[in-house]
Amino acid sequence: MDFTEDSATPAVVASFADAADPRLRDLLGSLVTHLHAFVREARPTVEEWTGAIDFLTRTGQACDDTRQEFILLSDVLGISMLVETINGQEVGTESTVEGPFHVVASPELENGANIDLMGGRVPCVVRGRVLDPDGTALAGAQVDVWQCTEEGFYDVQQPDVQPRGNGRGLFIADEGGGYWFRTVVPSHYPIPDDGPVGDLLRATGRHPYRPAHVHFIVTAPGHAGLTTHIFVSGSPYLGSDAVFAVKSSLIADFVLVEDPEQAAALGVASPFRLAEIDLVLDRDAGSEVVSTSTGEDAAVGQPGSA
Ligand code: BEZ
Ligand code: FE
Repeated sequence: MDFTEDSATPAVVASFADAADPRLRDLLGSLVTHLHAFVREARPTVEEWTGAIDFLTRTGQACDDTRQEFILLSDVLGISMLVETINGQEVGTESTVEGPFHVVASPELENGANIDLMGGRVPCVVRGRVLDPDGTALAGAQVDVWQCTEEGFYDVQQPDVQPRGNGRGLFIADEGGGYWFRTVVPSHYPIPDDGPVGDLLRATGRHPYRPAHVHFIVTAPGHAGLTTHIFVSGSPYLGSDAVFAVKSSLIADFVLVEDPEQAAALGVASPFRLAEIDLVLDRDAGSEVVSTSTGEDAAVGQPGSA
């Protein structure tokens, strides 16, 4: 009955015992156990507790239809990347966070289309193949890309400057699994830092910058979807991404090509940058070949999957 530092945790954990959903019971029990351990160790004053409540209140108040300050908080605390990495595919291209700028549907475009609607300074070609882990081409895979400009802004951040859809495209991999598009090399940029998350960064001496990257969401029937970025090698902040999303396997060279013939063949001015990026999707667990009791192999999940 008596509340003490020692009795607090078992009492609150036990209060969830009758939760109808056992996963909810376990999640809350574990959360309370860890939060209580933190409070016992850090021993916050009442003023510090009030300050934390005020910070979380302001974080909620900063959210609206286009801004999710709580996800941004999760991002700068490394929680989004932990969840992403725990749930990411075990083989194939590594995943990373989606971020807040995939807010409009990308226009469906033909391979080779130019997603730079602003006429940027240095043209860039991004091309590659969508493959499954054994190297089989995934014809028909969808490759959804979005990126910021050479100045570091997404279209939705500059509605009066950039046409809607600038830096975005949805491409379908061809018979050989190939995709390609023309663009510009994106810049590094700061995450939105005019709210409580920005206050936290400033209070802790952290910068708000992300290294330059192109976002991808890749899907193909019978395969796990992949949400990732490709980072531009040599970009500032690769070693100190504000949201901890860099994995070295995702850093690619955007090579300077000074060959007018190659440029003409790809429909870009010379010189240009070229990034070659293959994207490997894991098979969906539901479409794996399983052994039946008769010893025959049978595909389960997607019709026609192997
Ligand atoms: C982004 O890359 O678009 C992003 C990711 C996390 C937080 C802010 C921006
Ligand atoms: Fe981004």
